[in-house]
Amino acid sequence: MSYFMVFAGKGGTGKSTLAALTVRYLMEKHLKPILAVDADPNFCLPELLGIDHFETLAEVRDNVLQRKPEGMSLDDWLEIEINRIVEESEGFDLLVMGRPEGSGCYCAVNNVLKRILLEIAEQYRYIVVDNEAGMEHISRGIVNKIDLLFIVGTPAKSSIQAALRINQLTKELGIEPNKKIFIINQSNKRVEDEQVLLKDFKKVIYVNFDENVKRISEEGKSIFSLQDDSLIIKNLYDLLEEEIER
Ligand SMILES: Nc1ncnc2c1ncn2[C@@H]1O[C@H](COP(=O)(O)OP(=O)(O)OP(=O)(O)O)[C@@H](O)[C@H]1O
Ligand SMILES: [Mg+2]
Repeated sequence: MSYFMVFAGKGGTGKSTLAALTVRYLMEKHLKPILAVDADPNFCLPELLGIDHFETLAEVRDNVLQRKPEGMSLDDWLEIEINRIVEESEGFDLLVMGRPEGSGCYCAVNNVLKRILLEIAEQYRYIVVDNEAGMEHISRGIVNKIDLLFIVGTPAKSSIQAALRINQLTKELGIEPNKKIFIINQSNKRVEDEQVLLKDFKKVIYVNFDENVKRISEEGKSIFSLQDDSLIIKNLYDLLEEEIER
């Protein structure tokens, strides 16, 4: 059974960094097989995971009808193409979704896509999804199950509001994650509204600002270059150790 972990929250809060570090954690603990999914149209998970060559699912979707060999069914062709673009790296695989569909109608393609993605997901024990704030892929049914939802924010009121909106959205979409955790990243300042959040979230946890993260991000390095004793690793790994289902 696949175990889905999803990172969501306002832009720039640290979703991709924490999602990439979760992949690193799973690798170090030999919890596998792992699929990392970049579901943010402005993908940056590949860079954080040290991957510079990849094709997106959006590219496959947009070109599917032109490229499909004659006589082959749409299902078979999409399956081949998706398997081709799932990047196999040492210790984990990566799928980059790319932008949501444009104005053309790809309804048939999207329905097939959903089914094939679910089939592919079944091959992995752990799936880590780096989502954008709008939860586009969730609302389209591409991700239809969440075991562990991390909403990433800052202590700012707007961040808390965004978290509550995302929480509401998952409810409206009929997705009830098993566990919901609110991560206040890049800060150790406690939030005033902790009690409000705790009505809906199992925990509110704090991840400190870490100079090393800022440095590797400026240098375009992957999260694998962060030292084991980094503050962010310590903060996040403690949480993952407690919350991820084995
Ligand atoms: N704990 C931290 N300490 C220091 N810097 C951090 C920390 N977490 C994230 N950052 C930095 O904050 C910036 C935004 O992080 P990241 O790209 O992970 O956020 P995001 O929520 O995925 O953003 P976006 O919505 O743009 O995809 C990056 O430069 C990252 O290195
Ligand atoms: Mg991101």
